[in-house]
Amino acid sequence: EKNGYDHFMLKEIYEQPNVIKDTYRGRLHTDTGMIKMAGVEDNLQKFLNANRILIVACGTSWHAGLVAEYIFEEFARIPVEVEYASEFRYRNPIINKDDVVIAISQSGETADTLAAIKMAKENGAFVFGVCNVVGSSISRETHAGAYTHAGPEIGVASTKAFTTQITVLTLIALRLANAKGTLTKSDYFRYLQEMELIPQKVEEALQTNDVAQKVAAAYKDASNCLYLGRGYNFPVALEGALKLKEISYIHAEGYPAAEMKHGPIALIDEQMPVVVVAPKQEHYDKIVSNIQEIKSRSGKIIAVVTKGDTQVKDLADHVIEIPEVSDALSPLVTTIPLQLLSYHIAVMRGCNVDQPRNLAKSVTVE
Ligand code: F6R
Repeated sequence: EKNGYDHFMLKEIYEQPNVIKDTYRGRLHTDTGMIKMAGVEDNLQKFLNANRILIVACGTSWHAGLVAEYIFEEFARIPVEVEYASEFRYRNPIINKDDVVIAISQSGETADTLAAIKMAKENGAFVFGVCNVVGSSISRETHAGAYTHAGPEIGVASTKAFTTQITVLTLIALRLANAKGTLTKSDYFRYLQEMELIPQKVEEALQTNDVAQKVAAAYKDASNCLYLGRGYNFPVALEGALKLKEISYIHAEGYPAAEMKHGPIALIDEQMPVVVVAPKQEHYDKIVSNIQEIKSRSGKIIAVVTKGDTQVKDLADHVIEIPEVSDALSPLVTTIPLQLLSYHIAVMRGCNVDQPRNLAKSVTVE
């Protein structure tokens, strides 16, 4: 059932254009400007009255939550906090009945996330689930929810779950923005239209596979790797680093690019590959100067850039080109080459890509 692919992970990476479409199909109506999700519509007032949204999740789902934080705050102007479910549940957090808690989980079985939900419910919060597995514990325990339509994710390293989670969360943010009037009509419609172009853009991003493979061959023996990104692409850097460490066992860390000078820059030498997520986006000039700082310390730069980029291209050792996409939706596209890069590095190192050591697909114990 790998459909001709060598591994489930690769198959699932390639499924992304379709599953993103499956996730917004029937919900996104660009012609009428409507977003219809029963779980959101039935509870619209709860979302609109929320003093804040608390997002709880683990691992890759937590990274999707971080992307959502940026999107919700920008589109709907609702304050968002994102927490590791494992920390949240044990730290006596402040939960009010006017809080909306969103729990994100592919499996719907993650023990810490489930416990965080129960605690939020006991404190009177409205709890909304974003799950992939239909009928899972978390989907049953939450008051309402919206499923991702990623289909079964077999590879332990999460790929298509991440991009479909971001898709669902973006739709919710847009729905709330429309209700609150926090986006201009033209921006709102522009995002709806662009959402429908995402599968095509992801398809184009998948064409970076050959380049990703070449870059992988050059760095497969590295023992460390840094990932940097800014804004919406800061969580993408974290996710890129997680993908690399979990399947290739190379030590990797993700940082907001500007944090470099507060510590990690000390690690940079000619042995250190640095993956920089640097599409044309707000504060692009800042990331260019971050790249210059790495270069002047002889770090090796692998940059994810927008097609046609020249400034980063001149500085980087390798560039991976993705199609143009607006800042807020860019994580759906910039993530793709990072998934491919980790995949190829892990394969070249002879690792068990679909079942990395010490990891389980659903973490039902704490
Ligand atoms: C990373 C990965 C894990 C999961 C985490 C949460 O590739 O698979 O970090 O994202 O265990 O799992 P779910 O989303 O099932 O709650």
